[in-house]
Amino acid sequence: MAVHRLAVLIFLTFFVGLAWSLPRFLHGRPRGGMLGAPRRRSGGSLPPDQWLEQKLDHFNDADLRTWQQRYFVNDTFFKPGGPVFLMIGGEGTANPIWMVEGTWVVMAERLGALCLMLEHRFYGKSHPTPDISVESLSFLNSEQALADLAYFRQYMGMKMNVTYSKWISFGGSYPGSLSAWFRLKYPHLVDGAVATSGPLLAQLDFTGYVSVVRDSLATSPQGDMCNTNIMQATTQVEQLLQHRVGWADLTKMFQVCKPLNGSNPNDVSNFYEAIAGNFFGVVQYNKDNRAFEGAVGTDITIDTLCGIMGNTSIGVPLARYAAVNTLLLQTYGEKCLDVSYDDMITEMRQTSWESSASEGGRQWVYQTCTEFGFFQTSDGKDQPFGNGFPVSFSLQQCSDIYGKQFNKTTLTQGIARTNTNYGAKGIRATKVIFPNGSIDPWHYLGITKDVSETETAVYINGTAHCANMYPALPSDPPQLVQARDTIFKAVEAWIQ
Ligand SMILES: *[C@@H]1O[C@H](CO)[C@@H](O)[C@H](O)[C@H]1NC(C)=O
Ligand SMILES: *[C@@H]1O[C@H](CO)[C@@H](O)[C@H](O)[C@H]1NC(C)=O
Ligand SMILES: *[C@@H]1O[C@H](CO)[C@@H](O)[C@H](O)[C@H]1NC(C)=O
Ligand SMILES: *[C@@H]1O[C@H](CO)[C@@H](O)[C@H](O)[C@H]1NC(C)=O
Ligand SMILES: *[C@@H]1O[C@H](CO)[C@@H](O)[C@H](O)[C@H]1NC(C)=O
Ligand SMILES: *[C@@H]1O[C@H](CO)[C@@H](O)[C@H](O)[C@H]1NC(C)=O
Ligand SMILES: *[C@@H]1O[C@H](CO)[C@@H](O)[C@H](O)[C@H]1NC(C)=O
Repeated sequence: MAVHRLAVLIFLTFFVGLAWSLPRFLHGRPRGGMLGAPRRRSGGSLPPDQWLEQKLDHFNDADLRTWQQRYFVNDTFFKPGGPVFLMIGGEGTANPIWMVEGTWVVMAERLGALCLMLEHRFYGKSHPTPDISVESLSFLNSEQALADLAYFRQYMGMKMNVTYSKWISFGGSYPGSLSAWFRLKYPHLVDGAVATSGPLLAQLDFTGYVSVVRDSLATSPQGDMCNTNIMQATTQVEQLLQHRVGWADLTKMFQVCKPLNGSNPNDVSNFYEAIAGNFFGVVQYNKDNRAFEGAVGTDITIDTLCGIMGNTSIGVPLARYAAVNTLLLQTYGEKCLDVSYDDMITEMRQTSWESSASEGGRQWVYQTCTEFGFFQTSDGKDQPFGNGFPVSFSLQQCSDIYGKQFNKTTLTQGIARTNTNYGAKGIRATKVIFPNGSIDPWHYLGITKDVSETETAVYINGTAHCANMYPALPSDPPQLVQARDTIFKAVEAWIQ
């Protein structure tokens, strides 16, 4: 999460006076996007920004408006006649560190590939519209993004004389899904796809997320006691929320910024979600090889948090739950825990490219409120985080941020449309490989069994979100090493 922190810092320095009221981990998306950048191992300059002209609306010939989309090129390893690797940008700024680091670059070196990365519309510096008002955001969806990729592919084919080369797409997390969908929708433009940790099933109430968090916490040395302790802490939170004195106690223990108002249901839901979110973020990125030199957060693992939850010398389970919160606040340099719903909504309503929400939070939540859902709610049974953040709370945010028409009815239709359009877990595309980690809560919405001989799953026991995309480390478990090898062999076969 290091890069995200950094991005936030730059942001706050740049836009002085802007408070940050958005959760550190919003709907499963850390600031910066779900796929963190890899470690930079060598110095030297990164490839410069390059730009291409794209249509604003690929599905309306009468709309001739265009905009500039950012991309990056690394041609160091390219041998004429070699393949083209296309890294798909996602719900955050496209980070050029990916142009020099990561498993795909190692593969490019071995296979003489040209490396390209296209930033996703509406994220980073790729601004299709003058602002991010609701009207502008109507041009933000996965179908427009796939069409951007198609036109980029044609443009680069001509520009670099690689039209007749083999093209392979790559992506992790939401771009993992885009990678599979690009192959599905434009099979004449891309010869194979690596779709890492992609949530292929759009789902309103993503209760499976919290179940996988629970199962992943149980893999720590404390085993399921970790969950038992969290459950006891949650019960204590519920009791304290019953009365005013309890609100004050919780405010103090969890370092809540503005005194917690226990009679404001939205703040209470935000509070529950924030303290559970402490665990979600760590589980999602547990030991994922993203470690950034000298960076914060990546040394905190499931074992760290469960170690605290099992440490009786800290006090009762509630005190340990609060100790986890304190550790994460300290790690990310946050003074207090902001759970004010109104402040969060005010920030998320900002429509300027200069606002803090434009870092990607407003855009990504818009996509979840229109296309995907993916709401990581507390609605599931048998999980230790209570029931304080139900799906109705997520839906209310959609309406409060973007307007009344963004409600359960319209989102349910949007989700059905997404699944109809791409086939959800029943996707029928050949030459797609779906690597995923067992610890990663997102694997729940992904492909975990081979769909066919040419649509294969690579299950990586014990790893988190997108682990196979990061540079190899000597400490990598054998199944991760094996997964990288399987992916390499698949790509090698596709480009023959
Ligand atoms: C373009 O690439 C093709 C196939 O790799 C090659 O035969 C041709 O000479 C190239 N053209 C130019 C202008 O480089
Ligand atoms: C491409 O990546 C390699 C490997 O990190 C790096 O050495 C090289 O400088 C990069 N080339 C460009 C043009 O950025
Ligand atoms: C607490 O929230 C309730 C319900 O939203 C509101 O009526 C009340 O004014 C709030 N109290 C404070 C002190 O903000
Ligand atoms: C438990 O917490 C105490 C007090 O914070 C600390 O000194 C001790 O090292 C912890 N024990 C373990 C096993 O982490
Ligand atoms: C949701 O929004 C649509 C479109 O504005 C509207 O027709 C519908 O009545 C709304 N549904 C609810 C339950 O508010
Ligand atoms: C990954 O693949 C394995 C089997 O190969 C499967 O058990 C697991 O659920 C898959 N996960 C995802 C997210 O596709
Ligand atoms: C994953 O690894 C754990 C511990 O290393 C082991 O107990 C479990 O059986 C493995 N699961 C699979 C599906 O291989």
